[in-house]
Amino acid sequence: MKAVILAGGSGTRLHPLTLVTNKHLLPVFNKPVIYYAIEKLVDAGITKIMVVTSPHHIDAFVKLLGSGQHFVPKTTNAKQIQIVYGIQNEPNGIAYGLFIAEDYIGDDNCVLFLGDNIFMDDIAPAVKKFKKGATVFLKKVPDPKRFGIAEMNKKGKIISLEEKPATPKSNLAVTGLYIYDNTVFDKVRKIPPSARGEYEITSVNSLYLEEGTLRPQVLKKEWFDIGNIESLHKASLFMKKRSHNDK
Ligand code: DAU
Repeated sequence: MKAVILAGGSGTRLHPLTLVTNKHLLPVFNKPVIYYAIEKLVDAGITKIMVVTSPHHIDAFVKLLGSGQHFVPKTTNAKQIQIVYGIQNEPNGIAYGLFIAEDYIGDDNCVLFLGDNIFMDDIAPAVKKFKKGATVFLKKVPDPKRFGIAEMNKKGKIISLEEKPATPKSNLAVTGLYIYDNTVFDKVRKIPPSARGEYEITSVNSLYLEEGTLRPQVLKKEWFDIGNIESLHKASLFMKKRSHNDK
């Protein structure tokens, strides 16, 4: 299993903090936002990661992360993980960002990790047991209009998916972590851009839903989407408290 971390986008909701830098480089307590994604993947046994970002910020990511020398694999004897880079010229959607990694992923399955998401759940069991189809990770939220939303039936199956619905059918957000089999790239090829001109990951997930191969997993612990100043601050306070509790 390889992974793709998306670290592009425009970050306009974090202005002026993101006027000269990228939101994934901002600090959450004692680490840049993107470190949390990399560490979560490394803890799940993943050692090959492509970071996709914009041409404006690629230099900063290379300076920060290099070839992955700051991260030690958990499951192999290698000295470091391998980080490579992809460039997304325009922020034209999450699904398009993933598409850039097609050749890198090759015949493998892949984890897609939105680099502005921070998860406290252990994702290793889900990564290990994954065989085919797609797994999405859901979390109850108070403000469902801000997210991709999944509706589940009583048997725990997803019956509908909508991207930022005006009238949400549930309060279960589809978080920014997805495990896909290799058919994901054919699916990205099939989707049209949305009304806002983006290739939406929700459209890709809807194709798995139609196929009957979309599996939900409900997260038990905290999840942060660093989309605005409020959530950046909340995540920092949480990490600070956690680090003090660890001492
Ligand atoms: O955080 C979970 C949500 O992420 C999901 O519930 C939504 O279904 C999904 O569309 C997404 O919504 P956001 O509004 O949070 O997406 P945002 O534009 O903030 O981008 C999410 C991440 O993907 C962020 O790390 C930047 C990166 N990105 C985004 C776009 C549009 C790229 O690398 N390239 C892009 O073109």
